[in-house]
Amino acid sequence: MKTDLFAAPSDASMTVFEAIYSLRATRIYEDRPIPADVIHQIVQAGTMACSSGNTQPWEFVVVTERDLKERIKAHMVDAFSTIDAERAQKPEQLVDGVGRPITGHAAVEHLDTVPMMVVVCWNPERGVRMKGEYETNLDGTLRETRVIPGGRGVSLFQACQNMMLAGRALGVSSLFTTFFFLRNDEIKAILGIPPHIFMECAVFFGYGEEKLGKPRRKPLAEVAHINGWGNPYQITN
Ligand SMILES: Cc1cc2nc3c(=O)[nH]c(=O)nc-3n(C[C@H](O)[C@H](O)[C@H](O)COP(=O)(O)O)c2cc1C
Repeated sequence: MKTDLFAAPSDASMTVFEAIYSLRATRIYEDRPIPADVIHQIVQAGTMACSSGNTQPWEFVVVTERDLKERIKAHMVDAFSTIDAERAQKPEQLVDGVGRPITGHAAVEHLDTVPMMVVVCWNPERGVRMKGEYETNLDGTLRETRVIPGGRGVSLFQACQNMMLAGRALGVSSLFTTFFFLRNDEIKAILGIPPHIFMECAVFFGYGEEKLGKPRRKPLAEVAHINGWGNPYQITN
């Protein structure tokens, strides 16, 4: 593995377009570890993302220990036991094109065998950009007092996608999740995350044990507009 941080620190041969077009949300993984140098390349790719004002407000809690995963799983199984009653989406929206559930139940059920979870947090010590953006509560947590676009998750999700594409290029599948918010305090406590740090999302990584085809996406013409809303998208020279 190359160590020059100004060169791509990986020998992966997959092109960026191959990685983008073949990335799938994977919820069931083989119970085998990801080699340390592969983990390192994935997390390092996260640090190369863009962020508001280059604040780089991310903190990556890399979880590989079985005991931690089992404790997190116990909370998530409990949270998911009642979650379906609260969903706003219709049942037909909760499956993918081949009828596979996208609700996270499978991910939670197999959480203890996910080889690596990267819990991605926002650190206000680097992330706050404007006066009065946050105030401190009595318990040490922060509350947003001035909404400024580009905050928190907006500066973390690019890092997540970087890690997922880096993983894909290295043969490691992934799942982006936000469902830890359902047991925010408990999971922060398990991982020792301080009160003022925001836990925003978690990305699961491992060697997939699901057979997944190509991702299904809406055709570009259905979601793109040219030079103004409603103008059918077409590009000509
Ligand atoms: C903001 C966000 C939240 C998500 N939350 C969950 C989740 O709670 N559980 C889950 O299993 N997948 C979750 N996913 C993964 C999506 O279900 C997945 O990306 C989508 O179904 C497309 O999957 P595909 O790339 O395999 O086609 C989430 C993805 C995003 C971007």
